[in-house]
Amino acid sequence: MMSEYAVEARNLIKVYKAGELEVQALRGLSVTVANGEMVALIGPSGSGKSTFLNIIGGLDRATAGYIGVMGSDLTQLNASQLVEFRRKTVGHVFQNMNLIPTLTAAENIELPMAALGVKKDARRQRVEELIGVVGLKERMSHKPGELSGGEQQRIALAAALANDPPLILADEPTGELDTENALIVVNYLAKANRELGKTIIMVTHDPRVARAASRILRIQDGVIATDVTPSEEAAPTQANYTDMLKTRIASIDAQLAGLDQDFRKGLISSDQFVDRQTNLKKTKDVLGDELHRLGVVH
Ligand SMILES: Nc1ncnc2c1ncn2[C@@H]1O[C@H](COP(=O)(O)OP(=O)(O)O)[C@@H](O)[C@H]1O
Ligand SMILES: [Mg+2]
Repeated sequence: MMSEYAVEARNLIKVYKAGELEVQALRGLSVTVANGEMVALIGPSGSGKSTFLNIIGGLDRATAGYIGVMGSDLTQLNASQLVEFRRKTVGHVFQNMNLIPTLTAAENIELPMAALGVKKDARRQRVEELIGVVGLKERMSHKPGELSGGEQQRIALAAALANDPPLILADEPTGELDTENALIVVNYLAKANRELGKTIIMVTHDPRVARAASRILRIQDGVIATDVTPSEEAAPTQANYTDMLKTRIASIDAQLAGLDQDFRKGLISSDQFVDRQTNLKKTKDVLGDELHRLGVVH
């Protein structure tokens, strides 16, 4: 039976048992997410966000209650059906460890398709397409270690999209990124939602990232405590996103000028100068690339 919902959770309970100890991670959580929504899950550490996401993604099972995802009743699936569900219905992006370090960006994106037996030519074509979606065509042959954290997460998103799953689950995808890179990555998640019609559920503790969603669910003590729509004025528009990028570039230019002066005055060593200059320039390049992709001349 098809459901109008991407996700339907009813009275979900999850109890972890560790010896004598029992932890109630979910305490009767109920919520529905419609197809095509982009939802942010927020809440204190230990409130059950990852547990809920893992149950939606078929990585973990609920102790009791009902969980339906894209028309499948996950409580009724056996182990091999659950594997099939995970491969076809869900794309995962985690906080880190998404990519295999010895493979190139392109090979990392190819991997989930190889697992489904997609032919080489079709895989290559899809990699080209996806790497364009995340704006990293020129980084195809780079290994993860040669990419910035933000770029790695964009490749991870492309890999999550590889088999064209209707649902993307992201657990703190921007957790280890600075604000600029966090906003760039979430902007690509929003793009996958808007342009590819993917339903997206992402866990975040960053309010600026959460505001990119159309709905914010706050979990507390294993239940949904609040369910709100971010206010219109607070929602990041394309205009204030480009403004943010431009402001950051201007501030980096100012820091570079200051660095020059400090070096000439002998306040910093040449090693320090080169170090800081390299870092600032790297950040500036990322921001500039992003502006360029948005079609903004700066
Ligand atoms: N595998 C596990 N075994 C035992 N307890 C766990 C396990 N995973 C999570 N928990 C506990 O369940 C609760 C919810 O955890 P989690 O869903 O990871 O929270 P969040 O992602 O919101 O920080 C916490 O008290 C956590 O310690
Ligand atoms: Mg978590």
